[in-house]
Amino acid sequence: MTMWTLFGFGTYISDIFDIIHAHHDRVRAVVKNYKPTEEQMSEIKRRVACCGYDIPIIDLEDFKPVDGDHYMFGFHDGRDKNYQSLEDKYHIRFSNLIHPSVTIGSNVRLGRGICIGAHSVIAPNASIGSYCTINRSCSIGHDTEIGEYVKINPGVSIAGYVRIGEQTTLGIGSVIINRINIGSHSFIGAGAVVVRDVPDHVVSVGVPAKTIKENP
Ligand SMILES: CC(C)(COP(=O)(O)OP(=O)(O)OC[C@H]1O[C@@H](n2cnc3c(N)ncnc32)[C@H](O)[C@@H]1OP(=O)(O)O)[C@@H](O)C(=O)NCCC(=O)NCCS
Repeated sequence: MTMWTLFGFGTYISDIFDIIHAHHDRVRAVVKNYKPTEEQMSEIKRRVACCGYDIPIIDLEDFKPVDGDHYMFGFHDGRDKNYQSLEDKYHIRFSNLIHPSVTIGSNVRLGRGICIGAHSVIAPNASIGSYCTINRSCSIGHDTEIGEYVKINPGVSIAGYVRIGEQTTLGIGSVIINRINIGSHSFIGAGAVVVRDVPDHVVSVGVPAKTIKENP
């Protein structure tokens, strides 16, 4: 049985707990690196309580790596390179956390610190950058390249030979047709159908998707 320590927490932490428990693994601790409000603290306690066993919520200064443990983020929004520095500071490496129902095709390249939710499918020759989140029931096409820190919300369908730049988010249920390039730090709206390339730092929504504003 693998023990996991999760850094930070967001609403996404419940999905992470579910993937850990689907492997019959357990959570050793959730590490917080800021002082949560009372409301945030009661929310995290409520989510942790759903696991049915005590999970300590500890401060970053009390964190000590344990040999053989695995590490993952407890949130997605706002993941960025600052968190990567935890790896150097504590001599740890974030692991990949992949639900057992996920299908991964041949010759798929995965970075590290990647989380993939139930029933997603990664087709052959795709490449997924480190620290990405691919949520439930997503389909990632063959030969598609996804940059680091990309967030793919539930039910996204990406065709073949697509490229997505780092820190871009694909909204729930969006569809990206084949050979499209989407830039970095952009946001594709829920339900969008992307049929033309999308530049860096924009919000693009609708069917077919059109840019409506900048994404800082
Ligand atoms: C794209 C998105 C980020 C825009 O949010 P926002 O910056 O708050 O933008 P607004 O709500 O002010 O909308 C701006 C305009 O775009 C339209 N719009 C927003 N999202 C849209 C969408 N997904 N599809 C079509 N139009 C959309 C709004 O109707 C509005 O149009 P108007 O100016 O004519 O009234 C958000 O709507 C979205 O789709 N988020 C994805 C959420 C998601 O995936 N959740 C799953 C979490 S697991």
